[in-house]
Amino acid sequence: MVDFELSEDLSLLQATAREFADKELAPNAGLWDKEEKFPQEAIDKAAEMGFLSVTIPEEYGGTQIGNLGACVLLEEINRGCASTGVTISVHNSLFCSPLVKFGTPEQKQKYLPKMATGEWLGAYCLSEAGAGSDAAGLRCMAKKDGSDWILDGSKMWITTGSKADVFIVFARTGEHRTRGISAFLVEKAYEGCSVGKKEEKLGIRASPTTEILFDNCRVPGENLLGEEGEGFKIALDTLDGGRLGIASQSLGITRACLEASVRYAKEREQFGRPIAKFQAIQWKIADMATELDAARLLTWRAAWQRDKGVPVTKESAMAKLFASRLANRAAREAVQIHGGAGYTREFPVERYMRDARITEIYEGATDIQRLVIARDTLS
Ligand code: CAA
Repeated sequence: MVDFELSEDLSLLQATAREFADKELAPNAGLWDKEEKFPQEAIDKAAEMGFLSVTIPEEYGGTQIGNLGACVLLEEINRGCASTGVTISVHNSLFCSPLVKFGTPEQKQKYLPKMATGEWLGAYCLSEAGAGSDAAGLRCMAKKDGSDWILDGSKMWITTGSKADVFIVFARTGEHRTRGISAFLVEKAYEGCSVGKKEEKLGIRASPTTEILFDNCRVPGENLLGEEGEGFKIALDTLDGGRLGIASQSLGITRACLEASVRYAKEREQFGRPIAKFQAIQWKIADMATELDAARLLTWRAAWQRDKGVPVTKESAMAKLFASRLANRAAREAVQIHGGAGYTREFPVERYMRDARITEIYEGATDIQRLVIARDTLS
């Protein structure tokens, strides 16, 4: 049976998130971008509305609306502000979700209630200077010391790095390339854990991206997440969900581009008529609208499958691949429709173009998604 209608709960969530994005995010996103200002107030309000707890079970204070719910929410949020969008996405899908799936009851009890209220934000530390697409090439070390672990090394390009209170950190605990990696819950307040350089970025400039450094950082034994040596699988399983967040971010950016283009094309007159009357503009709008629907169907299908417990490695890679490329095409066309005006900061489309660029890079670059899809299809 196939049902293309959202449930009453998800429709309500969609409407609430849309109103929140229209009131709190869209009017401010340009200034936050310009000033590289973390949208703390908006994040606090999002937490009050339950948007930071969508992957957390009720017993820990969450709403646990699942992957499809998270996608519906994230499309709306990202339509207003992609920096706020990635902050919420990483917190929900890259931190809370693996903690719910692989954490002990004690770990969940300790962290999840704080994450649900937004008192604490979470981040995910996988990438390193020498380990981007080749995530298993990571060199950050964790050595046993009694029942504790000592972490040494540095992580790069960590989303929410300077604002997060606790990280899931992947570190090497053995020689084997992929089975010698373990995952740890590391609080920023632990001695030896610090925030390094903050990156100056092309887009999502209100989302702080930093290095996270570990220098003889002592992590209690009970903060090992999952089994020793299971870390790489936890990392990749988590990214199967995270990639749906980035696909949804791409949907939100695409919708913002489409809506801005329609608005402008109806207002802007050239050759004595609104430019929306010209087929050259209409074709662009038609392609954007069609591909947006296709990308949403791919994304929601994968989220629906993941909610059912079905493996979605290929499906989530397909959703991210298609949606992120679309966001870039749509942003380019939106700027083109706006002409010279679109190239200025008077209109948000130049920001959409800069923000869209990262969707083809983080949580697995476009060619990594193609590699994942090709491996599965050829196997
Ligand atoms: N779920 C669970 N386990 C998985 C899995 C998945 N989706 N995919 C693979 N595995 C398992 C494999 O079965 C294998 O298990 P065994 O050791 O038992 O055989 C193990 O993991 C190793 O898998 P591979 O041999 O496929 O590993 P690989 O090194 O060849 O490459 C890769 C895998 C797909 C290239 C992977 O490295 C990858 O996805 N790279 C991209 C990295 C990435 O996405 N980084 C994102 C950084 S986080 C971020 O960007 C957040 C942000 O800022 C917003």
